[in-house]
Amino acid sequence: MAMGDVFKTNAELTSFTDKMRVAVFGSAGGIGSALYNMLAAHPRVEHVFGFSRQHPDPKFQIDFLNPDSLTRAGETLAEIAPLHLAIMATGVLHDDRLGITPEKSWRHLTSQNMAKNFQINSIGPAIIASHVLPILARDSKAVFAAISARVGSISDNRLGGWHSYRASKAALNMLLKNFALELRHRNPAGIVLGLHPGTTDTPLSKPFQSGLGHDLFSQADAAQHLLGVIDGAGTDISGQVVAWDGHIIPA
Ligand SMILES: NC(=O)c1ccc[n+]([C@@H]2O[C@H](COP(=O)([O-])OP(=O)(O)OC[C@H]3O[C@@H](n4cnc5c(N)ncnc54)[C@H](OP(=O)(O)O)[C@@H]3O)[C@@H](O)[C@H]2O)c1
Repeated sequence: MAMGDVFKTNAELTSFTDKMRVAVFGSAGGIGSALYNMLAAHPRVEHVFGFSRQHPDPKFQIDFLNPDSLTRAGETLAEIAPLHLAIMATGVLHDDRLGITPEKSWRHLTSQNMAKNFQINSIGPAIIASHVLPILARDSKAVFAAISARVGSISDNRLGGWHSYRASKAALNMLLKNFALELRHRNPAGIVLGLHPGTTDTPLSKPFQSGLGHDLFSQADAAQHLLGVIDGAGTDISGQVVAWDGHIIPA
């Protein structure tokens, strides 16, 4: 392992209490549903709460384009405290219905497209984090992890394009770093992580899968990798973005 790498485990989650209380945001999405199902069946998990736009109970419905739903989710989170693990598995790259498309050139920029990318990829996760971070457990390891993307790294950007998606993930990464620094004072055992799942077979990546020069992970593989990274993570890497293979992605 190179210096700075995270030790990756088999997602046994033995670094946590054996009565874990977990929340998954985006629990009906590709990677989110795989995480939810894996955690719901996990022997160390006592309870897993799923939040999504599609949840039948309004208390667990979150739509990042609807601020009222986030206020309500904040109330729900206060009721279900404490949490040992909260994973944000939401995000958007394209959505025909909402008019969201990844721009190849600055010629394609519109303020509407940019605003929706930031609302869904940066602002919504940050507001949920503001409700989750205060209720992270204090008596054992506790993690807030948000799925970001390698393309949110400024120093790793060699291809350009996807302006709003990249910029909104870079903004998310900065917020995660800020939250890690603040959490260090309030809950020294708490950990904040950004995660890169690798290209995974979901509706988000579907239009971009042809000619892929590397692996395309199944949703279950991606979930397994990310839980392994979370299990291996300590406070020393709080605030960083970690890839599925345990390598830290430079900012
Ligand atoms: N797939 C990849 O290759 C890949 C690569 C790098 C990073 N990622 C990141 O991985 C994360 C999960 O994506 P995925 O691949 O699993 O895609 P996905 O199957 O399209 O899932 C997207 C998730 O985002 C949620 N979402 C979208 N718009 C929302 C909104 N307005 N309010 C609240 N939730 C909203 C969806 O919620 P509903 O269930 O309610 O529709 C769904 O849970 C994203 O952050 C993505 O950027 C994915």
